[in-house]
Amino acid sequence: MYSILVHAHSGIRWVVLGLLVYAIYNSFSKWKGNNVFEAGDRKINLFAMAATHLQIILGFVLYTKSPKVMHGGDMSNALVRFFTIEHMTMMLLAAVLITVGYAWSKRTADHKKAKIAFWFYLVSLIVMIAGIPWPFREELGGAWF
Ligand code: HEM
Repeated sequence: MYSILVHAHSGIRWVVLGLLVYAIYNSFSKWKGNNVFEAGDRKINLFAMAATHLQIILGFVLYTKSPKVMHGGDMSNALVRFFTIEHMTMMLLAAVLITVGYAWSKRTADHKKAKIAFWFYLVSLIVMIAGIPWPFREELGGAWF
């Protein structure tokens, strides 16, 4: 069960990143193009947000099961600190940015929708990329898939 969850969480990262990049590209091209942001554009952003929320839920389940999460553990240990505090905090921040960006873009004036979605999703993507335990961050022991 634990191993299935880790693999699902690891794999869904690519879906989240792919949808985010697409949403950012789409919002940018609408903003710099005719600046008409339609229901279909909003749906792209909605899918990216939904995938992120699913990943957050999986993350919380993993948080209760992972041996890398240790409350009261040795915080000078980079792996324990990363998975107990840093990863969760950064990913929650990324998800809040996406959620606020989506809601704001939905409610604001038509000519501002694309611009707001673009900036919030872009900053969220940067935070997310910084918070992923990439395999090249060797001490964190993450995988590509
Ligand atoms: C969009 C948000 C998130 C992304 C893209 C993401 C991505 C990842 C990735 C790529 C890994 C490494 C998996 C591997 O070793 O192959 C991982 C591990 C982990 N994530 Fe997340 N994560 C997200 C949100 C969260 C949240 C919000 C939590 C906690 C509340 C969380 C908890 C964990 C834990 C505990 C592990 C370590 C699992 C283990 O190897 O034991 N994640 N995450």
